[in-house]
Amino acid sequence: MLEIKNIDVFYGDVQVIWDISFNIKQGEIVALIGANGAGKSTTLKTISGILRPKKGEIHFNDIPIHKVEPYKLIEIGLVHVPEARRLFVEMSVEENLDMGSLKGEAKKEREITKQLVFDLFPRLLERRRQLAGTLSGGEQQMLAIGRGLMAKPKLQMFDEPSLGLSPILVKDIFNVIKRIKEEGTTVLIVEQNVKQTLAIADRAYVLENGKIALQGTGAELLSNEHVRTAYLGV
Ligand SMILES: Nc1ncnc2c1ncn2[C@@H]1O[C@H](COP(=O)(O)OP(=O)(O)OP(=O)(O)O)[C@@H](O)[C@H]1O
Ligand SMILES: [Mg+2]
Repeated sequence: MLEIKNIDVFYGDVQVIWDISFNIKQGEIVALIGANGAGKSTTLKTISGILRPKKGEIHFNDIPIHKVEPYKLIEIGLVHVPEARRLFVEMSVEENLDMGSLKGEAKKEREITKQLVFDLFPRLLERRRQLAGTLSGGEQQMLAIGRGLMAKPKLQMFDEPSLGLSPILVKDIFNVIKRIKEEGTTVLIVEQNVKQTLAIADRAYVLENGKIALQGTGAELLSNEHVRTAYLGV
């Protein structure tokens, strides 16, 4: 479904991604793990068209997308839930969800998808009329994920969805991501919570200093010696 081929990414003159290649097959949860500054967010931003690779190609369902505008990518089914949640703070929870489904299929099926989002996050249903800017951090994170789902993505990318959440909410978020996969959406997830991420991931790639250092199934990497010492602290 997604094919990243030998991409280099720079900020000005500074190269942060070095000849990265990886792929995601339809129906998978694929994780990207790595230390702070390894280039995880940069990789997601490049896939979603916010940054451009200086070299290499990105294909989504066999269409080259490395020159396509970000808003067009949403229309063809590629949705990015960024690190900063970027909600419309002056709008209600429900209005934010509606903003996620402005076109085509997503717009037609808005009410059905909204029911699914409220089913995943009952808290959002309770607070549907509350202004997004007044939600707690965890609630804002739920809304950001829910708004992404409203676009009915084929591939949904998450950058640190559990960041700043309490342990119970972290568990909820991982359950929601499993549900999203069961609903038929393919997932690319970046996370610091390595253990829980590898537990739900079909496959994962380890990014170190802008290069792919390791890859394998979630289970393989969970028992990998290097992953255990460097990322699981055991
Ligand atoms: N806008 C920018 N301008 C210049 N350098 C940047 C910019 N954004 C990120 N970088 C640098 O690129 C490198 C990779 O950053 P990136 O945000 O991709 O890391 P990350 O793996 O997502 O880290 P974290 O786990 O802390 O979120 C870092 O060295 C960072 O300082
Ligand atoms: Mg990041």
